[in-house]
Amino acid sequence: MKKIITYGTFDLFHQGHYNILKRAKEYGDYLIVGVTSESFDLERGKLGVRDSLLTRIENVKKTGFADEIIIEEFNGQKIQDVQKYNIDALVIGSDWIGKFDYLKPYCEVVYLERTKNISSTQIRLQEQFLNVGLILDSDNDGGFVEESKFVSGVHIDRVFCEDLKQANELKQKYQLNEAYDNLDEFMDGLNAVIVNVKTKKAVEYIKKAQKAGKHVLYRFFEQPTLKQIQSMIDTAKKKHLLLLDCMVPVYSQAFNQLMWMVECGRIGKVIHADCIVSNTDDSQLNKYYSVLYAVYVASRICASTDFKYTTFKHKFSDDKYYLRASLESKGVLIDLEIGEGIDLLPNIKILGEEGQIVVPNDWWNTGYFEIYHNGNPVPERHCYNYEGNGMRYILREALIMLREDNYETTRFSNEYAMALYQACKNITEKVK
Ligand code: CTP
Repeated sequence: MKKIITYGTFDLFHQGHYNILKRAKEYGDYLIVGVTSESFDLERGKLGVRDSLLTRIENVKKTGFADEIIIEEFNGQKIQDVQKYNIDALVIGSDWIGKFDYLKPYCEVVYLERTKNISSTQIRLQEQFLNVGLILDSDNDGGFVEESKFVSGVHIDRVFCEDLKQANELKQKYQLNEAYDNLDEFMDGLNAVIVNVKTKKAVEYIKKAQKAGKHVLYRFFEQPTLKQIQSMIDTAKKKHLLLLDCMVPVYSQAFNQLMWMVECGRIGKVIHADCIVSNTDDSQLNKYYSVLYAVYVASRICASTDFKYTTFKHKFSDDKYYLRASLESKGVLIDLEIGEGIDLLPNIKILGEEGQIVVPNDWWNTGYFEIYHNGNPVPERHCYNYEGNGMRYILREALIMLREDNYETTRFSNEYAMALYQACKNITEKVK
């Protein structure tokens, strides 16, 4: 009996999938189909997958070509599968030519021509298209253009800048279609804008975008007043518009996995945590996010936003300072240290009754952490995929929210956001 194996995500099942399965089956007597797990797709950066694993398996099953369906969960699994299932040939589409030649010592490797003009990516693009414009006031796009290339369904089309010359330079730099200095013309034809503006004008831009019925993703550099934020939230709610603060840890799978481990008691009851943030040129943070991220960590660890504070600030100059805040809630003490314009060694250390978790270095920008269990000096190392500067995870979330017609993310509800903004304000105002 000739045993064949083939693999795929099989998202939004289409004719190309049907054809390859049919031909793979015809190539032998027994066909095993490996369907990628959700976590494996996330790991390898395939962020736009729409159907659940069960739906994708069900669709493969319905074709009647698969004699057996397995789940592909990690890189390198194919070698194991070929040996385990005694496979004679791997059959796969021609988009993978050469990529699986490493299996040739184990089995025959056959690349069959892909069905033309169809792919899951193409269907996703047709079904959901977020045509986005960037509002900038510096030559830094916050990495959004590059990041958007990893999320099918999001297209950054154009840029607005008050200075037309600068807008044109940005258009060139990021290879966008259009450059504008007129906000109304810029917004025409878009369904979303990203506001990445350093001055207080950010709020004005957001209000105008909302007025024009656009979804908004924003990165602040300084905290607006709570009244301004509340008004933006109210408008978004009233007009069914997305309003997302681009806080990477909220949307990063890696950071959430870390926090879920804390929540489910991997280090026992949490007693204390240190969280150090350093906002320097290459940390991809700013004055706003360095405080907000630290307070967010505290809120996740304590599962509360109701803190008692002690704060301290040492000013080196107007834009350089060392800020320390001790926050207490529900019997947990969190020490936050924030270096604005100065180098601190960033990390998170969480101390529980049964162990510690350490996230070394730029913790807001990593998928790596270590768990030390009491009495064992060797850490358990965890590494989750974290790519780019994290904005791709936010763009992906925006698409999911739109698809589900859900304008308030459960990850960061409006109420939670307002409580955090208030906590940030309490800290920064106390030490002005
Ligand atoms: N395939 C094919 N012809 C197509 C699309 C896919 O033969 N038009 C094959 C792929 O080569 C692979 C299998 O179907 O062997 C599963 O591919 P998958 O990556 O799940 O499908 P795509 O449509 O390519 O998905 P995406 O656009 O998300 O990459």
